[in-house]
Amino acid sequence: MARPLIAPSILSADFAKLGEEVRAIDEAGADWIHIDVMDGHFVPNLTIGPAVVKALRPHTTKPFDVHLMISPVDNFLDAFAEAGADTITVHPEAGPHLHRTIQRVRALGKKAGVSLNPATPAKALDYVLSEVDLVLVMSVNPGFGGQKFIASQLKKIEAIATRIAKENLDVLVEVDGGIDAETAPQAVNAGASVLVAGTAAFRGGAAAYAGNIRALRGE
Ligand code: DX5
Ligand code: ZN
Repeated sequence: MARPLIAPSILSADFAKLGEEVRAIDEAGADWIHIDVMDGHFVPNLTIGPAVVKALRPHTTKPFDVHLMISPVDNFLDAFAEAGADTITVHPEAGPHLHRTIQRVRALGKKAGVSLNPATPAKALDYVLSEVDLVLVMSVNPGFGGQKFIASQLKKIEAIATRIAKENLDVLVEVDGGIDAETAPQAVNAGASVLVAGTAAFRGGAAAYAGNIRALRGE
Protein backbone atom coordinates (compact mmCIF):
# COMPACT_ATOMS: atom_id res chain seq x y z
CA MET A 1 0.00 0.00 0.00
CA ALA A 2 1.25 3.51 -0.86
CA ARG A 3 2.19 5.47 2.26
CA PRO A 4 -0.80 7.65 3.18
CA LEU A 5 -0.74 10.91 5.11
CA ILE A 6 -2.46 10.58 8.49
CA ALA A 7 -4.74 13.36 9.71
CA PRO A 8 -5.92 12.60 13.26
CA SER A 9 -9.25 14.22 14.09
CA ILE A 10 -9.13 16.07 17.41
CA LEU A 11 -12.85 15.37 17.78
CA SER A 12 -11.70 12.22 19.57
CA ALA A 13 -9.09 14.00 21.73
CA ASP A 14 -9.62 15.05 25.34
CA PHE A 15 -11.25 18.48 24.99
CA ALA A 16 -10.17 19.43 28.52
CA LYS A 17 -6.53 19.48 27.36
CA LEU A 18 -6.63 20.07 23.63
CA GLY A 19 -3.27 21.87 23.36
CA GLU A 20 -1.50 19.00 25.05
CA GLU A 21 -3.35 16.49 22.86
CA VAL A 22 -2.34 18.30 19.68
CA ARG A 23 1.32 18.33 20.78
CA ALA A 24 1.15 14.63 21.64
CA ILE A 25 -0.38 13.59 18.32
CA ASP A 26 2.12 15.79 16.45
CA GLU A 27 5.04 14.13 18.25
CA ALA A 28 3.48 10.73 17.55
CA GLY A 29 3.86 11.38 13.81
CA ALA A 30 0.62 12.96 12.62
CA ASP A 31 1.03 14.56 9.19
CA TRP A 32 -1.91 16.95 9.47
CA ILE A 33 -4.27 17.91 12.31
CA HIS A 34 -7.91 17.42 11.27
CA ILE A 35 -10.33 19.84 12.94
CA ASP A 36 -14.05 19.08 12.74
CA VAL A 37 -16.23 22.18 12.94
CA MET A 38 -19.94 21.48 13.47
CA ASP A 39 -22.83 23.89 13.89
CA GLY A 40 -25.74 21.80 15.21
CA HIS A 41 -27.65 22.67 12.03
CA PHE A 42 -25.80 21.30 9.01
CA VAL A 43 -24.90 18.31 11.19
CA PRO A 44 -26.53 17.21 14.46
CA ASN A 45 -23.59 18.10 16.73
CA LEU A 46 -21.79 21.21 17.96
CA THR A 47 -18.04 21.39 18.28
CA ILE A 48 -15.51 24.16 18.02
CA GLY A 49 -15.12 27.59 16.43
CA PRO A 50 -12.30 29.79 15.17
CA ALA A 51 -11.26 30.90 18.69
CA VAL A 52 -10.27 27.33 19.53
CA VAL A 53 -8.41 26.91 16.24
CA LYS A 54 -6.49 30.10 17.01
CA ALA A 55 -5.68 28.92 20.53
CA LEU A 56 -4.32 25.63 19.16
CA ARG A 57 -2.19 27.22 16.44
CA PRO A 58 0.92 27.79 18.63
CA HIS A 59 0.93 24.14 19.72
CA THR A 60 2.07 22.65 16.39
CA THR A 61 3.54 23.56 13.03
CA LYS A 62 1.68 20.71 11.27
CA PRO A 63 -0.98 21.79 8.77
CA PHE A 64 -4.46 22.44 10.17
CA ASP A 65 -6.97 20.57 8.01
CA VAL A 66 -10.21 22.35 8.86
CA HIS A 67 -13.40 20.48 7.93
CA LEU A 68 -16.35 22.86 8.02
CA MET A 69 -19.70 21.19 8.60
CA ILE A 70 -21.57 24.47 8.93
CA SER A 71 -24.20 26.22 6.87
CA PRO A 72 -24.17 28.89 5.62
CA VAL A 73 -20.41 28.46 5.45
CA ASP A 74 -19.33 31.62 3.63
CA ASN A 75 -19.58 33.93 6.66
CA PHE A 76 -16.91 31.95 8.49
CA LEU A 77 -14.22 31.41 5.86
CA ASP A 78 -12.23 34.52 6.78
CA ALA A 79 -12.35 33.76 10.50
CA PHE A 80 -10.97 30.24 10.07
CA ALA A 81 -8.30 31.48 7.67
CA GLU A 82 -7.20 34.12 10.19
CA ALA A 83 -7.29 31.56 13.01
CA GLY A 84 -4.60 29.53 11.25
CA ALA A 85 -6.29 26.99 8.97
CA ASP A 86 -4.10 25.64 6.15
CA THR A 87 -6.79 23.74 4.28
CA ILE A 88 -10.44 24.72 4.44
CA THR A 89 -12.91 22.07 3.31
CA VAL A 90 -16.59 22.75 2.66
CA HIS A 91 -19.61 20.70 1.66
CA PRO A 92 -21.39 21.60 -1.60
CA GLU A 93 -24.71 21.69 0.30
CA ALA A 94 -23.41 24.32 2.76
CA GLY A 95 -23.84 27.34 0.54
CA PRO A 96 -25.53 28.57 -2.62
CA HIS A 97 -22.39 29.04 -4.76
CA LEU A 98 -19.74 26.36 -4.29
CA HIS A 99 -17.47 27.81 -6.96
CA ARG A 100 -17.49 31.22 -5.29
CA THR A 101 -16.79 29.66 -1.88
CA ILE A 102 -13.76 27.84 -3.31
CA GLN A 103 -12.53 31.03 -4.93
CA ARG A 104 -12.81 32.82 -1.59
CA VAL A 105 -10.81 30.14 0.24
CA ARG A 106 -8.06 30.40 -2.35
CA ALA A 107 -8.13 34.20 -2.29
CA LEU A 108 -7.45 33.92 1.44
CA GLY A 109 -4.28 32.01 0.54
CA LYS A 110 -5.57 28.67 1.80
CA LYS A 111 -5.92 25.26 0.20
CA ALA A 112 -9.51 24.55 -0.79
CA GLY A 113 -11.26 21.24 -0.20
CA VAL A 114 -14.70 19.92 -1.11
CA SER A 115 -16.30 17.19 0.98
CA LEU A 116 -18.91 14.73 -0.27
CA ASN A 117 -21.41 13.11 2.09
CA PRO A 118 -22.11 9.40 1.57
CA ALA A 119 -25.20 10.16 -0.54
CA THR A 120 -23.59 12.99 -2.52
CA PRO A 121 -22.42 11.75 -5.92
CA ALA A 122 -18.93 12.36 -7.32
CA LYS A 123 -20.74 14.30 -10.02
CA ALA A 124 -21.02 17.20 -7.54
CA LEU A 125 -17.34 17.81 -8.36
CA ASP A 126 -18.09 18.58 -12.01
CA TYR A 127 -16.90 22.06 -12.90
CA VAL A 128 -14.96 22.53 -9.63
CA LEU A 129 -12.49 19.64 -9.54
CA SER A 130 -9.75 21.58 -11.30
CA GLU A 131 -10.25 24.47 -8.85
CA VAL A 132 -9.65 22.52 -5.63
CA ASP A 133 -6.65 21.11 -3.79
CA LEU A 134 -8.46 18.32 -2.02
CA VAL A 135 -11.57 16.13 -2.16
CA LEU A 136 -12.74 14.75 1.19
CA VAL A 137 -14.90 11.65 0.81
CA MET A 138 -17.08 11.03 3.88
CA SER A 139 -17.21 7.35 4.71
CA VAL A 140 -19.73 8.03 7.49
CA ASN A 141 -22.54 10.55 7.72
CA PRO A 142 -20.91 13.63 9.24
CA GLY A 143 -21.64 14.62 12.82
CA PHE A 144 -19.99 12.11 15.11
CA GLY A 145 -16.83 10.11 15.65
CA GLY A 146 -16.89 6.37 16.20
CA GLN A 147 -19.27 5.39 13.39
CA LYS A 148 -18.97 2.39 11.10
CA PHE A 149 -17.17 2.76 7.75
CA ILE A 150 -19.59 2.80 4.80
CA ALA A 151 -17.93 0.51 2.26
CA SER A 152 -19.94 1.84 -0.71
CA GLN A 153 -17.75 4.95 -0.57
CA LEU A 154 -14.75 2.98 -1.84
CA LYS A 155 -16.23 3.07 -5.34
CA LYS A 156 -16.61 6.82 -5.09
CA ILE A 157 -12.98 7.23 -3.97
CA GLU A 158 -11.91 5.09 -6.91
CA ALA A 159 -13.96 7.06 -9.42
CA ILE A 160 -12.61 10.38 -8.16
CA ALA A 161 -8.99 9.20 -8.02
CA THR A 162 -9.29 7.82 -11.55
CA ARG A 163 -10.69 11.09 -12.82
CA ILE A 164 -7.94 13.11 -11.13
CA ALA A 165 -5.27 10.90 -12.70
CA LYS A 166 -6.92 11.02 -16.12
CA GLU A 167 -7.20 14.80 -16.06
CA ASN A 168 -3.68 15.03 -14.63
CA LEU A 169 -4.83 17.24 -11.74
CA ASP A 170 -2.97 18.06 -8.55
CA VAL A 171 -5.77 17.12 -6.15
CA LEU A 172 -5.49 14.95 -3.04
CA VAL A 173 -8.20 12.45 -2.11
CA GLU A 174 -8.87 12.25 1.62
CA VAL A 175 -11.26 9.88 3.39
CA ASP A 176 -13.02 10.57 6.69
CA GLY A 177 -15.01 8.29 8.97
CA GLY A 178 -14.58 4.82 10.41
CA ILE A 179 -10.94 4.58 9.37
CA ASP A 180 -8.96 1.99 11.31
CA ALA A 181 -6.16 -0.49 10.58
CA GLU A 182 -8.62 -2.66 8.64
CA THR A 183 -10.39 -0.01 6.53
CA ALA A 184 -7.29 2.18 5.95
CA PRO A 185 -5.72 -0.14 3.34
CA GLN A 186 -9.07 -0.47 1.56
CA ALA A 187 -9.30 3.33 1.27
CA VAL A 188 -5.68 3.64 0.14
CA ASN A 189 -6.06 0.88 -2.44
CA ALA A 190 -9.12 2.69 -3.77
CA GLY A 191 -7.03 5.83 -4.26
CA ALA A 192 -7.09 7.85 -1.02
CA SER A 193 -3.80 9.42 -0.01
CA VAL A 194 -4.89 11.18 3.18
CA LEU A 195 -6.65 9.31 5.98
CA VAL A 196 -8.62 11.07 8.72
CA ALA A 197 -8.94 9.06 11.91
CA GLY A 198 -10.47 10.11 15.21
CA THR A 199 -11.22 7.04 17.31
CA ALA A 200 -8.38 4.94 15.89
CA ALA A 201 -5.77 7.69 16.31
CA PHE A 202 -6.66 8.83 19.85
CA ARG A 203 -7.48 5.53 21.52
CA GLY A 204 -5.40 4.34 24.46
CA GLY A 205 -3.95 7.66 25.65
CA ALA A 206 -0.85 9.55 24.53
CA ALA A 207 1.54 6.62 24.96
CA ALA A 208 -0.42 4.71 22.30
CA TYR A 209 -0.63 7.46 19.67
CA ALA A 210 2.57 6.64 17.75
CA GLY A 211 1.57 2.99 17.48
CA ASN A 212 -1.94 3.96 16.44
CA ILE A 213 -0.58 6.11 13.62
CA ARG A 214 1.84 3.42 12.45
CA ALA A 215 -1.01 0.90 12.36
CA LEU A 216 -3.06 3.27 10.17
CA ARG A 217 -0.11 3.56 7.76
CA GLY A 218 0.07 -0.22 7.64
CA GLU A 219 3.50 -0.26 9.31
C1 DX5 B 1 -17.32 13.10 11.37
C2 DX5 B 1 -15.99 13.80 11.29
C3 DX5 B 1 -14.83 12.89 11.38
C4 DX5 B 1 -14.72 12.11 12.66
C5 DX5 B 1 -14.05 10.82 12.35
O1 DX5 B 1 -18.31 14.02 11.08
O2 DX5 B 1 -15.87 14.53 10.08
O3 DX5 B 1 -13.62 13.60 11.12
O4 DX5 B 1 -14.01 12.77 13.67
O5 DX5 B 1 -14.07 10.02 13.48
P1 DX5 B 1 -13.81 8.45 13.42
O6 DX5 B 1 -12.42 8.28 12.89
O7 DX5 B 1 -13.94 8.04 14.86
O8 DX5 B 1 -14.84 7.87 12.53
ZN1 ZN C 1 -13.88 15.46 9.51
